[in-house]
Amino acid sequence: MEKFIVEGPAKLVGTVNISGAKNAAVGILPATLLVKGKCHLENVPDISDMRSYYTILESLGAKIEYINKNELIIDNTNIKSAIASYELTSKFRASYYLLGALLGRFNEVEIGLPGGCNLGARPIDQHIKVFEKLGAKIDVRSGRVYASKTSKLKGTSIFLDVVSVGATINAILAATLAEGTTIIENVAKEPHIVDIASFLNSMGANIKGAGTDVIKIVGVEKLEQKSSYSIIPDQIEAGTFMVAAAATKGDVIINNCIPKHLEPITAKLREAGVTVIEQDSLVHVKMDKKAKPFSIKTMPHPGFPTDMQPQMCILLALASGTGMIVENIWESRFQYTDELIKMGADILCKGNTAIVTGVDKLYGAPVIAHDLRAGAAMIIAGLVAEGKTEITHINHILRGYEDIVGKFLKLGANIKYISEGDTDD
Ligand code: UD1
Repeated sequence: MEKFIVEGPAKLVGTVNISGAKNAAVGILPATLLVKGKCHLENVPDISDMRSYYTILESLGAKIEYINKNELIIDNTNIKSAIASYELTSKFRASYYLLGALLGRFNEVEIGLPGGCNLGARPIDQHIKVFEKLGAKIDVRSGRVYASKTSKLKGTSIFLDVVSVGATINAILAATLAEGTTIIENVAKEPHIVDIASFLNSMGANIKGAGTDVIKIVGVEKLEQKSSYSIIPDQIEAGTFMVAAAATKGDVIINNCIPKHLEPITAKLREAGVTVIEQDSLVHVKMDKKAKPFSIKTMPHPGFPTDMQPQMCILLALASGTGMIVENIWESRFQYTDELIKMGADILCKGNTAIVTGVDKLYGAPVIAHDLRAGAAMIIAGLVAEGKTEITHINHILRGYEDIVGKFLKLGANIKYISEGDTDD
């Protein structure tokens, strides 16, 4: 089985360059389907979720020219099919963006139900509500989603019942080429939503308000890309390295990031006693003592991101007292705490709350990466622990972090990737 072996304890020192944002890229790639022509993308993260998306788009008829591992030109002139196989879409969650993008262009769309991290129930009722309000007919059966329309989608007013990143992006994708004006209220405000809207606007879309509670989209006839588009840096990858630097009592410059996007993480780290210095496109994180205990309540942006809570738990697990994590987004996000307990952490979970009391040390152990961010947390736990930590199910981590081993090695970590069939001795 492929795995990571981490030998701790480590003190991370140096500079790390942050890659393009996964959650923006997985929206921008399907958004290119709205263009009957070529799109040139830069700062594309080299991660397995993107490779899965390339395979899907190529299976639909896209031609992709891979300029280098972070830059490509995608030509969607000859998309022949709007039917994406279950095998491909079930590998990751963001495949549901195909629905919004393909509905903008075709009358009959069919995809397998999206997969992705196992974080508990992941309903798509708000996505369905959006498509139906815009005039499409949606049918979910036999593990597939069928979407159809008889004429152009029609602009309308939509109020989301829950603040959903995915439903907001799907609404933007579906409404961009719709007839008339769409107003979506109670939308998500994450930086990647703004990036996807900026990408579409750079090609002639008319989307206003991304990053606020209300988005207004005036449908346009067609889109056309005139210059290349560079995807924003990954907020969660940057946050992961910030926490890794703090937890290992290190000194790390996190380069090529947008400090404004990191504010909820920066504020919490400062509360824990970590020094965070913000400059134009970098943050410098330094720590030389035990963290002060803190509490986190995960919330939609600009609240504390759920995708950063497992990583922050490692800092809390070694803090000088007791803190609390309340998870308000995903019901199964605390699976990783069982792995930390194996390593010597003192964590009590009840419902959506974890009470974490700092211990003096964590000890290396065999652990599982239950999901993408839990996997990142396991790496940080391995870095701070004494001895050897063996992390399995790392396919989750590889879905969303580019060259994670190389980046940690450069900061002085002792980490190696063992491929399937290899032994670690
Ligand atoms: C996205 C991110 C994921 C992050 C999450 C919350 C991507 C590819 N993934 O996931 O990393 O953890 O935002 O920041 O960007 N909900 C419904 N009905 C729906 C849709 C969502 O009830 O139709 C609920 C979910 O169960 C969850 C909450 O809304 O409790 C937020 O989910 P959502 O923002 O949609 O998450 P994703 O877009 O799947």
